[in-house]
Amino acid sequence: MSTARIEPIKPHMGGIVHVAKEHLLEDQTIAAVREALEDRGVLVFPRMNLTDAEQLSFTDKLGKRVNYNRKAPGRGDDEDVYAITLDKKVNTQPEYVLGTFFWHIDGVTIDQPLPKATLLTARKLSPTGGQTEFASMYAAYENLPETEKQALEGVKVVHRMEASMRPVFDQIPEEDLARWRAMSAVMTHPLVWTHNSGRKSLLVGSHADSVVGRPIPHGRSLLVRLLEWAGQPAFSYRHEWQEGDLVIWDNCGCMHRVVPYDENSGRRMHRTTIMGEERVAGSARHG
Ligand SMILES: [Fe+2]
Repeated sequence: MSTARIEPIKPHMGGIVHVAKEHLLEDQTIAAVREALEDRGVLVFPRMNLTDAEQLSFTDKLGKRVNYNRKAPGRGDDEDVYAITLDKKVNTQPEYVLGTFFWHIDGVTIDQPLPKATLLTARKLSPTGGQTEFASMYAAYENLPETEKQALEGVKVVHRMEASMRPVFDQIPEEDLARWRAMSAVMTHPLVWTHNSGRKSLLVGSHADSVVGRPIPHGRSLLVRLLEWAGQPAFSYRHEWQEGDLVIWDNCGCMHRVVPYDENSGRRMHRTTIMGEERVAGSARHG
């Protein structure tokens, strides 16, 4: 009998994990969480109130931890904990966090396997906004009509960091463009990702810039339509945070975004990341 019970939230998406904090690191719990992660996409541990050290222990039990944002402003007590906030005292480069207002998958424009999973603990909430939304890219693919699945087979998409930053700016400053180009890679990925498991998911998001071999407006309209399709309520879940909640999501099978919130609210989330195990087939170009 497992010490963790997972209660589904919606048919395609989400699970609430009922487990006492003292059982969190047990092998049975870890096995149940790993198994449920891909199936449910996002797992909510209500009011776990983990410290950074406890969050890191849990992260380490689930996989190999990594911090992709070590160079970005925002730190927890440990260098592998990234503090996500718009508080100007902590974060002097808010554009990365403002970019999370738009649907995305973490790490798509880094030339390495996509982060497997992300863990977020709510430390301080905003009185308005700040909910995080997740959309299942497995459900989005699996529920497409057969004719559309066939039409998307073999389609390739170019992902760029500057595409994900475009919605944040009226006009992108040249020095920012140069910095992003130096720190990211232009990645060409299949639109339909066939995972090692054999399951297929859509790979789109704000970083998806164009479709290989198609005129820009034709390609972008396809990407926007698929984004709208994937974000529909049947395939997505909006988490209304309570302070101390822990949420984990399968970054390879979900996209996510945050509902805009007041930058003076002091909202602060502590993030840890589990390294990816699987590379999306594709090619990279740096700069
Ligand atoms: Fe993100």
